[in-house]
Amino acid sequence: MRISISEINQLISQEMAGDGSLIAVLEEIQQRYRYLPREALILASERLDVPLSQAYAVATFYNAFSLKPKGKHCLQVCMGTACHVRGSPQVLNRIETTLGIAAGETTPDMLFTLETVNCLGACALGPIVVTDSEYSGQMTVQKSDMLLKRIMRAEEAKKDG
Ligand code: FES
Repeated sequence: MRISISEINQLISQEMAGDGSLIAVLEEIQQRYRYLPREALILASERLDVPLSQAYAVATFYNAFSLKPKGKHCLQVCMGTACHVRGSPQVLNRIETTLGIAAGETTPDMLFTLETVNCLGACALGPIVVTDSEYSGQMTVQKSDMLLKRIMRAEEAKKDG
C-alpha cells in the first residue's frame, strides 16, 4: 500500500479536530495503513509537538500498533498454557506450513500476518485462534484448514467479482 503524505496529514488534521491525542492519531494511521510508517510517526510528532522518541515509545508499547506492514488478515494463535496443552502448537504449525511463513511474519502477497499471543483470557475455549478480531475456539488442525480456505476463497471471489 502506497504511503501518501497528504493523506497522513489529513488523518492527523481530522484527529486534531477531535481529541487530538497522540494515541488517537496513531490509531487512525494504523487503521488506514495496517502499520505506522516512519513518515507518519515523524509527521505526527511534528504536528502534535511531541518528541519523535515519545511517538516511537507509544508505537512500540501497544500491541495494536505495528512498525512493520501487516497483511490484510491478521491471524493470532494463542500459545498460553491452557491453549498450548490443548494443541495450539499443532495448529500454529499447520498454519505456518500452509501459509509458508513463521509466526511474526507476513505473506509476500500481504494477505496474512501470523502472530502468537500469550493468553486471551478465554482459556476454557482453547485452543483459540483470532482472525481479524474474531475469536474461534476449540481450534483443531482441520478447523484451521477450513478457516484459511474460507478466507482465501473470499479473497478469490473478490478478485473475480
Ligand atoms: S491460554 Fe489461550 S486463552 Fe488463555
